[in-house]
Amino acid sequence: MEYRELGNSGIKVSPVAMGCWAIVGDTTWGPQDERVAIAAIHAALDEGINLFDTAESYGDGYSEELLGRALRGRRDRAVIASKVSSGHLARADLRAACEASLRRLQTDYIDLYQVHWPSRTVPLAETMDAMAELWKQGKIRAIGVCNFASLDLDDLLALGGCATNQLPYSLLARAIEYAVQPKCVAHGIGILTYSPLAQGLLTGKFASADEVPEGRARTRHFAGTRPQARHGEAGCEAETFAAIARVREIAAGMSQPVASVSLTWLLHQPAVVSVLAGARSPEQIRENVRAAQIKLSSHVVQALSAATEEVKRYLGTNPDLWQPAAQSRMR
Ligand SMILES: NC(=O)c1ccc[n+]([C@@H]2O[C@H](COP(=O)([O-])OP(=O)(O)OC[C@H]3O[C@@H](n4cnc5c(N)ncnc54)[C@H](OP(=O)(O)O)[C@@H]3O)[C@@H](O)[C@H]2O)c1
Repeated sequence: MEYRELGNSGIKVSPVAMGCWAIVGDTTWGPQDERVAIAAIHAALDEGINLFDTAESYGDGYSEELLGRALRGRRDRAVIASKVSSGHLARADLRAACEASLRRLQTDYIDLYQVHWPSRTVPLAETMDAMAELWKQGKIRAIGVCNFASLDLDDLLALGGCATNQLPYSLLARAIEYAVQPKCVAHGIGILTYSPLAQGLLTGKFASADEVPEGRARTRHFAGTRPQARHGEAGCEAETFAAIARVREIAAGMSQPVASVSLTWLLHQPAVVSVLAGARSPEQIRENVRAAQIKLSSHVVQALSAATEEVKRYLGTNPDLWQPAAQSRMR
């Protein structure tokens, strides 16, 4: 596997990473066997995946704890990316959150420490200064953010920027292409893509919107009338499933799984360093890692983009998967 540089940090990471949210088995994801989750982490390492993305908020610390346990004796093979919640961005809170994450992860450093969502109360300068202190103390090796859209990125760049921006990006969620991604490209900020399989839609496992579990059928693809949706928009269910059918056909033409092809498409996009795919079993890990081996011609890359263009148009420039622009925590 060809490793890539994590922004300007000097840290090398696998282009396919393991997202460690779904393994907590919460109400969004449904039950998870802990032994299978640990086996998935071990399978990831065996397959050459070295980047693991977690957060203090996933399962209220359980994701970090699980990752820490699974990596015992293998810490040096992993690049751990964790996140501080938006409620912990004041200096003292951030320090305490980092210490708690280090304890749960059973390590004395976090490779990439990320702001999970921007704060509207704590000045960004205070947060970035506190991050820099942790970096100087060797508790974190690189600094990243998540969910920083155009205006937040401008504020961040004025303070000197950071290594990475973690953003929602998949064949079915392409809003960052309008303004955020070009800004990351221009300023050398690496993009880590979250929900790269559109929370399972791009694995082809759901034949229709009605088959998608409630906790996942709340993104803006789905009708705002779905039980857990909070966006109040019409959604674009028909267009989404028509797009999935087209992507499936292209993948079938290459005799490759639709999940792998969808991840490979992302790896061809500017500034994308690694795709954080939320695998829950060794089998899913082994399928997802194939994305790093598949070669797509520019013709196929364009065909995949064309297949999802209509969904891109429907969802518009708001990159938030869950909230309408007016209420979005992204700006
Ligand atoms: N920074 C942020 O605000 C933010 C937000 C969201 C996510 N994230 C990060 O991004 C990671 C990934 O995002 P995500 O979990 O939302 O969505 P995702 O990676 O698009 O989808 C994950 C789900 O797809 C299914 N799946 C994965 N690989 C598969 C395969 N090969 N075959 C069949 N099904 C497969 C699994 O669900 P089932 O087996 O249950 O169907 C899995 O839980 C998270 O774990 C987290 O680290 C960050």
